[in-house]
Amino acid sequence: MRRISRLRDRASGSAASSPTETDRVRGHYDARAGRYDRRIRAPERLLFGGGRAWACGQASGAVLELAIGTGRNLHAYPCDIRLTGVELSPEMLAVARGRARRVGRSVELRVGDAQELDFADGSFDTVVATLALCTIPDPRRAVDQAFRVLRPGGRLVLLEHVRSPNAMVRGVQRLLDPLFVRLEADHLLREPLEPVLAAGFEVESLERSKLGLVERLIARKPDHVGTGADAD
Ligand SMILES: C[S@@+](CC[C@H](N)C(=O)[O-])C[C@H]1O[C@@H](n2cnc3c(N)ncnc32)[C@H](O)[C@@H]1O
Repeated sequence: MRRISRLRDRASGSAASSPTETDRVRGHYDARAGRYDRRIRAPERLLFGGGRAWACGQASGAVLELAIGTGRNLHAYPCDIRLTGVELSPEMLAVARGRARRVGRSVELRVGDAQELDFADGSFDTVVATLALCTIPDPRRAVDQAFRVLRPGGRLVLLEHVRSPNAMVRGVQRLLDPLFVRLEADHLLREPLEPVLAAGFEVESLERSKLGLVERLIARKPDHVGTGADAD
């Protein structure tokens, strides 16, 4: 499977999605899982205040959270949804399991790769991702997979930090990006809207805040489509 994936990456000229980069990201988060919650608290308050409640409030029916991390959204979902979470790092997922027990949230948590989801086409009503596409090595593949596993009419909900349209802020992001990618496995210059449109989603709403650094996006899989572009 890995060999096939490597060959496909080579054929498409994509180094970003190579197993090496995915392994590096997994190792990065495995090593930092114990301190993730402490470290994210301040930037989260500064940039994403109310964002988790907003994102989870959009969810209904069968819900898949991509890159669920330590489960920081668990308490914010409505009670009547059926939640599944996928996460690359087993250590992050172990923290999420503890949190699910503490908050009493029933959730199916799986180690998995958002770039190669192990779910049948059309399995979910909502796919949620928060602070995730900045880290997933190939966000295009992850969004294609979200499209595939959503039922027609299903919705993708994203809360992300993105490339700012403000030239000065973007300049600072350009300077810091190589450092963040290397040290934090975090890409500062990504634009989730691009893969979302490329996958075939229709944008329902898009809001930018914090000098254009933070994006809240809701996109809908059209009613009259089958599977996504990457349904292999
Ligand atoms: C910045 S953390 C965000 C965690 C969580 N979504 C949150 O809102 O706190 C990024 C997470 O993405 C996960 N991740 C990165 N690449 C992934 C992939 N290909 N599949 C699943 N999870 C991935 C990392 O392991 C990490 O837990």
